[in-house]
Amino acid sequence: MKVTVVGAGAVGATAADNIVRRDIAEEVVLLDIKEGFAEGKAMDIMQTATLAGFNGKLKGVTNDYAATANSDVVVVTSGLPRKPGMTREDLIGINAGIVKSVTENILKYSPNTILIIVSNPMDTMTYLALKSSGLPKNRVIGMGGILDSSRFKYFLSEALGCTANELQANVIGGHGDTTMIPLTRLATYNTLPVSEFLSADALAKISADTMVGGATLTKLLGTSAWYAPGAAVAKLVESILLNQKLILPCCVSLDGEYGQNDICLGVPVVIGKDGWEKIIDFKLNAEEQALFNKSADAVRSMNDVLAT
Ligand code: NAI
Repeated sequence: MKVTVVGAGAVGATAADNIVRRDIAEEVVLLDIKEGFAEGKAMDIMQTATLAGFNGKLKGVTNDYAATANSDVVVVTSGLPRKPGMTREDLIGINAGIVKSVTENILKYSPNTILIIVSNPMDTMTYLALKSSGLPKNRVIGMGGILDSSRFKYFLSEALGCTANELQANVIGGHGDTTMIPLTRLATYNTLPVSEFLSADALAKISADTMVGGATLTKLLGTSAWYAPGAAVAKLVESILLNQKLILPCCVSLDGEYGQNDICLGVPVVIGKDGWEKIIDFKLNAEEQALFNKSADAVRSMNDVLAT
């Protein structure tokens, strides 16, 4: 199987590093518009092969789309990241142009690929990629909820004093500071509701910390995060390449599911060799559904900006 990662910046290179280390793809291509940049990142990563003990191949290229031909999966990370004080939504104008042109170039050489969109504002970029690519809806997936859920589990684990791997917890809705929905009611600590261990106030704080998780890191780092985003991309790619059928929160096209239409938004889906295969109904209560609807309204108004 072949994977291409477009954008060799912080997130793209970290994603490529995580993918190649897992030895799940025969070939990984890293592409960037900046002359020599992807080549340099790929060479640096490949020089860890004997240290990290992997056998996979990673090749870097400058804007050479022919080298990406017949990719089974393409991850799009090209675009501007946010700076302190910016929201993901501030990036829409410039990133829409980049995502659209990258998608067109990719499809010339991999017309049947599975597209994973990472560039922000991710929900709107996923919608744009779906509409402009003409790919079947199951082959276009936005990555945000896997990252946000991992952050949610981190904050829960800190409060509980347990390892995050003991936790099941999901963030659905949009991938924005005010649009994401950490599902505290459904979060469990080895099958038990976390509410049996944490107060309502503690859970409200964890939820709030999760929602601004990306902004907190942007403030600390001066740019947006990359380790967890890159690892989250690799988790998604792995479930596709190995047909693992993991249930992961991903941004996908909704046709009535969760009460929404003509929008790409984060919901739990089964991920396998054909992309997202099935939407899982978490049976939201009235309060959660109201938050989901509000999130959809906000993302829809972002999508409307594309048309202007
Ligand atoms: P970065 O600035 O480190 O890397 C972006 C790369 O894209 C640069 O190397 C740039 O040369 C390249 N690029 C720009 N235009 C291109 C084009 N037309 N073709 C090919 N390459 C092009 O940014 P970083 O931190 O890697 O973030 C990338 C994107 O991912 C941002 O939009 C950021 O907001 C988003 N992001 C999304 C997350 C998510 O969970 N969905 C998490 C973290 C970041």
